This record gives sequence, C-alpha cells and structure tokens, in this order.
Amino acid sequence: MTEKTASESLTIMTELVLPNDTNVFGNLMGGRLMYWMDIAAALAAQKHSNAPVVTASVDNISFENPIKLGNVVHIQAKVTRAFTSSMEVHMKVWGEDLKKQHKYKSNEAYYTFVALDDDNRPRPVNGLVPETDEEKRLFEGALRRRQLRLILGGKMKPDDAQELKALFTNR
Ligand SMILES: CC(C)(COP(=O)(O)OP(=O)(O)OC[C@H]1O[C@@H](n2cnc3c(N)ncnc32)[C@H](O)[C@@H]1OP(=O)(O)O)[C@@H](O)C(=O)NCCC(=O)NCCS
Repeated sequence: MTEKTASESLTIMTELVLPNDTNVFGNLMGGRLMYWMDIAAALAAQKHSNAPVVTASVDNISFENPIKLGNVVHIQAKVTRAFTSSMEVHMKVWGEDLKKQHKYKSNEAYYTFVALDDDNRPRPVNGLVPETDEEKRLFEGALRRRQLRLILGGKMKPDDAQELKALFTNR
C-alpha cells in the first residue's frame, strides 16, 4: 500500500435544486441532500482507495440553513484519515443564491466507507498524509470520532477507546 495526500481525494459536486428535490416549504429535502452527499463522499473514498466502497456509517448531521428552490448546492468531500479497510470522509455543504450573490452554510458531516475486494470483503486501503493545518486537525480528530461511532455501533467496548476517554479524563 502506498500513501496518498488528502487533497488527492478532493471531490466537488455542484447541483441545482429543482422542484422535484423540494419539500412542501420549497426547500431542498434532507434525504435528497444526504443522497448527493453519499455519492460525493463515496467518490472521494474511491479516489483514495482506487477500489469500490460501501457506506459503513453516517455521523449525525445538523442542517443549519435550508437550501431554497433554484439555489445551487455545493458539496466538498475529502478523506480525512484511512484506517485498515475504512476511510473517514469529511464534507462541507453550502448553498448559493446566484441572483443575490449570497453563499450560506448548510452543514458539515462525516461519512465512513469501507473498501471491498472482488469477493466483497473489506480490503486494505492506502494510508493518508494530511498536509494543511485543517487536514492535520481533521486527521487528529478522526481516531476519536472512529472510536465513538464504533462504540455506538456496538463494535467497540468503551474501555478500549483510549483516545476518546482521554478527552474526558486528562484535564
Ligand atoms: C461495512 C461492512 C463492509 C463492514 O463489514 P464487517 O464484516 O463488519 O467487517 P469488519 O468488522 O471487519 O470491519 C471492517 C471495517 O469496517 C469498519 N466498520 C464496521 N462497522 C462500522 C461502523 N458502524 N462505522 C464505521 N466503521 C465501521 C471497521 O471499523 C473496519 O474498519 P478497519 O478495517 O479500517 O479497521 C459491512 O457491515 C457491510 O457491508 N455493511 C453494509 C454496507 C452497505 O450496504 N451500505 C449501504 C447502505 S444500505
């Protein structure tokens, strides 16, 4: 396995909110946005691993502002850290009103993907080297976020999550 930079996985998706994408308030439906986010994040994970991937988990998402009918949706996805077969992808999502020349934040989110081999079993992925300050901060936090989601998914005992526990005990 080789090592790749975070920026090599950068994926940017741009969509236009059409009537069929909206709820009764004329805003983009959360489910449609999460669908687009899943595709953008999966592409980032596939760029990093050069393998087919499946979504293993989606962290909590808080929608801060509604995205209006006719506005543009921008999704920026990048791998923050690679473990053995899994990769965490961070996304920034914002809306844009081109007429008013106004951009506004929708949400930030983390999705986890697992690369699969020809028999659909988890396979090892390339390591990731963070370069910028933001990439290093995200890389650092990824281990704790991984421990939290594995505990919540019943795949890790809280006692084994050393880095996560240290957040609360090393004061
Ligand atoms: C994700 C999946 C491949 C994991 O398979 P598994 O047999 O549990 O494999 P393992 O326990 O060996 O775990 C493999 C990797 O998945 C990670 N993983 C498993 N469950 C996870 C979860 N809930 N959240 C985050 N990562 C998870 C493990 O940490 C491990 O990562 P690592 O290799 O980097 O250490 C399997 O559960 C699956 O296929 N799920 C369905 C995926 C899918 O269909 N997604 C679309 C939504 S319907």
